[in-house]
Order: sequence, then C-alpha cells, then structure tokens
Amino acid sequence: MNLNQLARTVRRATLAGAILTGTMLAQPGATPEFVNTLMPQPAQLTVGNGLLDISHGVAISFDKFHDDRLDNAVTWARERLQEQTGAMMQADAASLVISVDGAGEAVQGLDEDESYSLDVTPQGIHLHAATDVGAMRGLETLLQLVQSGDNSFWLPAVSIQDSPRFRWRGLMIDCSRHFEPVGVIERTLDGMAAVKMNVFHWHLTDDQGFRIESQIYPKLTGLGSDGQYYTQDQAREIVAYARGLGIRVVPEFDMPGHSTSWAVGYPDLASAAGPFTIERRFGVFDVVMDPTRESTYAFLDKFIGEMAAIFPDEYMHIGGDENNGAEWKQNARIQAFMTAHNLKDTAALQAYFNQKLLQILTKHGKKMIGWDEVLNPGLPKDVVVQSWRGFNSLAAGARQGYSGILSAGYYLDHMEPAAAHYRVDPLPANNNLTPEEAARILGGEACSWGEYVDPRTIDSRIWPRTAAIAERLWSPRTVTSEDDMYRRLAVESLRLEELGLTHISQEEASLRALAGTQQIDALRPLMAVLEPVNFDTRSHWSEAHGVTTLTPINQLVDALPPDPPSRHDFGDLMSTYLEDPVAHVEEEAALEDTFQSWVASPELMELMSSSPQLAAALPRAQQLAELGTLGREAVSYLSSGVPAPPGWKAQKLAFLDEAEQPVALTRFTVLKPLRDLVNEVK
Ligand code: ACM
Repeated sequence: MNLNQLARTVRRATLAGAILTGTMLAQPGATPEFVNTLMPQPAQLTVGNGLLDISHGVAISFDKFHDDRLDNAVTWARERLQEQTGAMMQADAASLVISVDGAGEAVQGLDEDESYSLDVTPQGIHLHAATDVGAMRGLETLLQLVQSGDNSFWLPAVSIQDSPRFRWRGLMIDCSRHFEPVGVIERTLDGMAAVKMNVFHWHLTDDQGFRIESQIYPKLTGLGSDGQYYTQDQAREIVAYARGLGIRVVPEFDMPGHSTSWAVGYPDLASAAGPFTIERRFGVFDVVMDPTRESTYAFLDKFIGEMAAIFPDEYMHIGGDENNGAEWKQNARIQAFMTAHNLKDTAALQAYFNQKLLQILTKHGKKMIGWDEVLNPGLPKDVVVQSWRGFNSLAAGARQGYSGILSAGYYLDHMEPAAAHYRVDPLPANNNLTPEEAARILGGEACSWGEYVDPRTIDSRIWPRTAAIAERLWSPRTVTSEDDMYRRLAVESLRLEELGLTHISQEEASLRALAGTQQIDALRPLMAVLEPVNFDTRSHWSEAHGVTTLTPINQLVDALPPDPPSRHDFGDLMSTYLEDPVAHVEEEAALEDTFQSWVASPELMELMSSSPQLAAALPRAQQLAELGTLGREAVSYLSSGVPAPPGWKAQKLAFLDEAEQPVALTRFTVLKPLRDLVNEVK
C-alpha cells in the first residue's frame, strides 16, 4: 500500500460512520447522506430532508436583477457544473432561480454586500443575494454542495445563510522577485474566488524588479524589469478579470525602501549616488528614496496619478517596510534636513515622507495602506496598517484608531502546515479590544513572497493551504477543527485542480523532469514524506550558495509541495494506533505496510542517482529505510508488549534527531509521529 492508498484507508477508518462510501449510497431505497465538504464553512447551515437530483442538468433563471457581470458569473458556474456532472440538459432538469436585488458597488469596496442565502429543496434551488458579488459567493457554495452517488449527482436539501466574518480576505503575490505571467495571476484569481477571497494584493515593485509599465517614466520597466513586466493593458485586463469574480485589486508600490528597481532608470530618486543595477540577491538593502528633495514628490505625484487611472480600488499600498535608514544616516545633506525639520531619527523622516506621500494619494483619490512600519505618531487615522509583525502590532494600531489587516502567521513562504495558518485568528477570542477597536480589524491576507517561487511552482506554494486561510477569514471563529479542515481541504484541493491550478500535478511533472523518465513509481514513497525546509533554512543555504533571482528554481525542494497529505494522514494514523497499540490492529497493519514501503529499493537508488538534484537527496532514501526499520521494530515491541533491548530507545531517538537535519533543503513530514511512537516503547 502506498501513502495515497494509505491516506484513503485512514480517512475511511477515522471517519467510519461519518461518511458513507459510494457503494453504500448505491443501496436501493437508502437516503444518501450529505457529506459536507464546504470550504469555507458557511455562517449558518441547516440540513433538511431529501435531496434534489441534478443528473439531468440545472436550468438557471433570474427573477429580479441581472447584468453582464452576473450573466458571465452564471455562465461560468453553469459550465463548471456541467463539467463536474457531465450532465446533458434535459426537460426534467432541476431549476435554480437567482434573485439578486441589484448590482454590486461600481468600484468594489470594504462595504460590498457579499451575503447570500441558498435554499435547496427537492423542488429546486433558490439563491438570493443583495448584489452580484453575494450571488457569486452563493454560486461557489452551490458548486461545492454537489454530491455524487453511483447513479446520480444530487444536492442535499439545505438552507444556508452566509456572510463573511471579515471584510478583507486577501492574497498577496510578490511578482517582483520572480515575475508571474498574466495566466498565472488569472488562474490564481479563479482559485481565490472559489474560496471566497476578495482582495488580490499585487506586489508590483521591489528591489529585484519593477513590474508595471509606466508610460510617463518608461525607464522604470525599460531598465528595471529585464523585460518582464505587465503592460498597462494587461494590468487593466487583470483588474477587469478580478472584478468579474468579485475581487478587488490593490496594487503595491513599495517605497521608500525596497526601491532599487526604481533607481536603475531614475537614479535621482535615490538618496545615494548611482548608478544602480537591478538587485539579484535577496534580503534588505540600503537603496532608499530621497525624502528631502521636492523632485522625488513631483515624480511620485505623476506616477501615482498614472497608476490611479489603472487601478480603481479605493486603496493603494505604499509598502513602507524594512527601510534600514543606512543611506539617510550616511548622507550629510539628509542629516542636515532632519536637523532643520526637527526629525529626530530615520523613522521620523520616513513618517515625514509618508505624510507627503499621503497628500499625493489623497489628491488622486486614494487611501493609503502600508506595512506595520508606516504606523507612526501623526499618521492620519484612515491609513490601513498591514501587520507582518503580529497580532500585538495590529491590536496596538487598533487601539490608536487605525484599521488593519493581519498577515503575520499567513506567510506561505514560511512553508508551514495549513493547520498552523488555520490557528491564526486576526481577532482571537481573548483579544482585549473594545468592540469599537475590534471593528477596526478588517481581516487578513495570505502572502506569497517570491524569492523561491516561479510560474511552475507558485500554485503548490499557494494551494491548497490558502483555502484554510480563506476559511479562517470567512467562517465563524468557532470553526476550528483541524481534522475536519484537512478532510475538507483534501476535497477542495481537487476542486481547485479542476479550475486549472497545478498544485498537485506539478510535483509529478517536476519529478519526471528530474528523473528523466516517466517511470517514477519508485520515487513516490520517499517523495510523499518529504517537504521543503522552512524559509530561514532555505535563505541561509541560498546565501551561502550565492543563489540569486537568476538561479533556476529546479531543485528537488521545488518539486515538493509544503504540507503534503502525508503529514496529517500519518500523524492521524499514528495517534489512533497509539491510543491502544494492542487493540488497533487495522492501524497496525496500515503502519506495517507503510514502513515496508520505505525500504530502499534498487529502483529508488537508481532513480535518485539519475540527476544531481535527486542525488543531493540520496541520504534521505537511506534514512527513510532506517525509519521504516525503526517503525517496524517499535510497532512489534508495542503490539507484543515485549520491551525493547537496553539502549534501543536512546539510539532511535538520536537517529530521529539526525533525520531532522536538512538534506537537499528537504525535511521529513513524519518525524514527530515516529518520535511519539518510539517514546511509547518501554
Ligand atoms: C515584509 O515582510 N517585509 C512585509
């Protein structure tokens, strides 16, 4: 049994009684049971009696308002439903009546009404929403409700009243450190809409590349992008595409730091003397805009005006993070300016810069959002703070009157499991905020930073973990079961794949490329239990090895998805087994099969030697074999009640410590449960 089969067995075993399998549904006369795989979970769900058969299609009509956007959304939902069910429309098709009160906001904002209600009865479906956007959210729920049996597709009788817990549910993508083509952005927007996210935060500029065309300042991309940038037409296309999905687009132009790419074409913007070149390394650099010169603001005024015409959102993100102030401290002219203006430190000078920038944004009809560092005394209260430092920083802002969103805890590049993100709540139950302060916490954003991500790997870095974050931001605070989240996430992951996302398929494609053959079965048991090391480990390694933006993203670590199913499934299997090793014979057998599959085969060793990237991870194959042996021994001691020989336990724990060490930037997903296992041995 390989790990995929194991996962299925385990899921069936752990959910026995809760889930009816397809075969059970086929029993004549039995009422099939609704399996709730909704993600995010709705605010209120009541399951009624009976079902609606949709095997002969769903005929969709409007009984109130509709417009082009809603028509398109409905067409898309219809196509997906047909793809999902293969249903040919017949005369006895089920009916879906959509009642929408009116269009959404002309420019979607924080107050957009996204609520909807969805009623399914054996007679038909009724979707009601105040706006197009609410209807779109309801259509996504409807698609997730579809159940299948042996002979039919059907919807459970349900009544759903749903609205989001937070108004700002975003995903940030850094397109500066690595550029992501339009197609990648659009399929990501499809995934976001599927899990009801509503803000695409587009990190368009940073030290490593300037990615949006300016016609006023053509050298920004001309010299700062290596030719990899979005034209204004492409940016407008993405804004329109996102609007079609009920998603806002908030562009970020990071300043005054993280601004090397601006200075390549326009060195006078910078505080130090040029010339500058596009930054190829990663980290925090000294290049920073000169806040003392009026010419800087004249430039930004024209640039922001140009961008304001492309990005209709009320908010514009000005970055503001990680300015180390070095060039300001070293520059006598800037120091003199600070003295003359009574600015006591570089943070005060940045606050001065922000005030001037805010005037420019306001002039062009925009509100400002920035990272934690923008929070400074004197900052106007309508600036939104995005916290990458943590809840305390967010709460401190809320107490001072600032609205904010949380991103600390949602950094996808940290390679944490979905469960770790899921535990992070922008407004935890024990927050000590007054209701007025709490209302200032608008939501959160998952962040996909681009150091080690390219167009082939980005999907697996974003999905499916972002769906867990989306649920945290949409669903009631009380929806917290991690086991249930993983159960539904496994299904959502397949639905996201149907949308064209490559987060599952890319692993195999990359492994085939690395192995140079289509016959990669022997790699699977090992690859199933490996995942990328965390961001810090990769950063240290990358620095030591001279990795830059130009280094290909084609190592084994790039093929591996973070938080693969093995992490949760194996942990789940082990904890069930350890509840009673003597009695749990089914789990014992599943563990035995798994440990057996970890024995290094000659085919595995041969494949691991077929490319330098795989060969770098050869020690992992040997370690896995040893882990299999360790596991088998531990299970035999525990199941038989025979104690291990003296020294066995200490030796195995030491081996587990060794296996924790990174090899080829990979780590095992199964070490904690194995440690629990060894610790149980007498
Ligand atoms: C950040 O992580 N520097 C926003």
